[in-house]
Amino acid sequence: MNYRHIYHAGNFADVLKHAVLARLIVYMAQKDKAFRVLDTHAGIGLYDLSSEEAQKTGEWVDGIGRILDTDIPAKAKAILEPYLTAVRDLNPDGGLTLYPGSPKLTRMLMRPQDRLSAMELHPDDYETLHRLFDGDFQSRITELDGWLALGAHLPPKEKRGIVLVDPPFEIAGEYERLADGLHKAYRRFSGGTFCLWYPLKQGAPIAEFHAALQALEIPKMLCAELVVRSDRDTTGLSGSGLIIVNPPFTLKGELDILLPFLKDRLKQDRHASARAFWLRGEEMPERD
Ligand SMILES: C[S@@+](CC[C@H](N)C(=O)[O-])C[C@H]1O[C@@H](n2cnc3c(N)ncnc32)[C@H](O)[C@@H]1O
Repeated sequence: MNYRHIYHAGNFADVLKHAVLARLIVYMAQKDKAFRVLDTHAGIGLYDLSSEEAQKTGEWVDGIGRILDTDIPAKAKAILEPYLTAVRDLNPDGGLTLYPGSPKLTRMLMRPQDRLSAMELHPDDYETLHRLFDGDFQSRITELDGWLALGAHLPPKEKRGIVLVDPPFEIAGEYERLADGLHKAYRRFSGGTFCLWYPLKQGAPIAEFHAALQALEIPKMLCAELVVRSDRDTTGLSGSGLIIVNPPFTLKGELDILLPFLKDRLKQDRHASARAFWLRGEEMPERD
């Protein structure tokens, strides 16, 4: 396990993922009934963008750095508000030093009745995350393989919730594993909202991944993808995608506003693009 999210925290992929996660949580919180967020690959929770590691790559500069405290058109601003408010709240003196990872962002948006279960397998990152949530009775941090949690920890006892699956894609076969993981998890918690993250990069088997997801016969599955640059000159990320199962009915319309804004703001070359479409349900696309 070599992946450390501190090198990537706040980058363009985090912006899309965390903005959407915040929308999912805000929507869940519209009903009084408690919900749980299960974060299977949680990271360390809070990122110091002034640290040597974050400064080394500087990825956040072309991510949250291009969004926070800038002019944003009103409709996109309203959609981004819960996410950006959380980032601002972590930096009360202005500027941008601290950035919330998914468990911290979740925790900032939860109400007293809601719960967080977060898994992290890297021993050092687990320790850091565990310390961050020390004494917080609403959060349970576990040093566990997140893929196992998709079985053992579902359904949550609240019967309402969001499952974020955000693996590092360090090893081959992660797209298949993600589709298989969703299959297993959905059978145990078909009423849950699932949010899966995946990278867009040169040679990535995206059409096969989408076909595998479509074959799962899950009735409502939305896809959001943001590409910020051509994949020709880089072996790194050119973009990222999210699969959202059982999305709030408002989400597609929000993505249709958010994605064009993010594309314009986060683009790194003329090959930038963005799309939101139903992989299953509502209006399905022609096959890729
Ligand atoms: C992309 S990062 C997570 C970022 C985080 N979800 C966020 O948005 O702030 C992936 C994390 O998964 C951890 N990890 C890798 N394999 C894992 C596994 N099998 N179970 C749980 N965590 C794992 C890595 O150590 C890393 O911290």
